[in-house]
Amino acid sequence: MKPLDKQTPQSVAGNMRPWTIRAETPDDRGAVEKLVDLAFGPGRFAKTAYRLREGVLPDARLSFVARDSAGDSLWGSVRVWPISIGSTPALLLGPLAVVPALRGRGIGISLMQHGIQAAAALDEYGAIVLVGDEPYYAKVGFSRLPTGQVRFPGPVDPNRVLGLALKQDALDSLAGEIKRARIDMAVSANVAAVGPVS
Ligand SMILES: CC(C)(COP(=O)(O)OP(=O)(O)OC[C@H]1O[C@@H](n2cnc3c(N)ncnc32)[C@H](O)[C@@H]1OP(=O)(O)O)[C@@H](O)C(=O)NCCC(=O)NCCS
Repeated sequence: MKPLDKQTPQSVAGNMRPWTIRAETPDDRGAVEKLVDLAFGPGRFAKTAYRLREGVLPDARLSFVARDSAGDSLWGSVRVWPISIGSTPALLLGPLAVVPALRGRGIGISLMQHGIQAAAALDEYGAIVLVGDEPYYAKVGFSRLPTGQVRFPGPVDPNRVLGLALKQDALDSLAGEIKRARIDMAVSANVAAVGPVS
């Protein structure tokens, strides 16, 4: 196999993917936190989406890591949080991050596909929302929600509010304020210190 820096996305698109994807475990947490920190920096805690994550654990059934095939190093991570929209249980996708040197090989898409498939299989949620770049997330089926259809607990760019239906027509009935689904732990003034929240 070619060295990683010589591989094209095509050469890893078939059976030769040098990474594996599996559910995140507690042992991954430190590496995931470091990767997310590298990708988004400490300023991420000020983002509106983080208000929905404060004090809430990601859904372990829907959060995945990409690791090199030997399992030695973390290459990417996606976490998915439970939320409610109006009174409807839903999911918030992100953060999604891939190690900078390994971007453009399909790892991000693959991580999201695992999260989406696992969420659909659960049959507990009708839709996933996120705040992000539509051209990228459209690759896995997200589309822009009409402005004002759902309301985040803070400012967001309406062009970046995206949704994906896990059940037929689920986006049509999605409406209202987005809130945390539950509180799993006390929220510290220093959110970074809470541990699992990122
Ligand atoms: C965004 C991110 C997760 C993508 O991971 P990745 O493994 O490089 O993505 P993939 O290889 O699966 O997909 C690559 C494709 O998506 C495209 N793409 C990547 N980021 C994009 C963006 N922001 N907007 C539009 N297209 C994008 C690439 O051009 C490429 O397209 P191609 O397949 O047509 O060549 C990675 O760049 C990252 O960690 N960025 C920093 C954190 C971040 O911004 N996360 C998303 C928050 S909204």
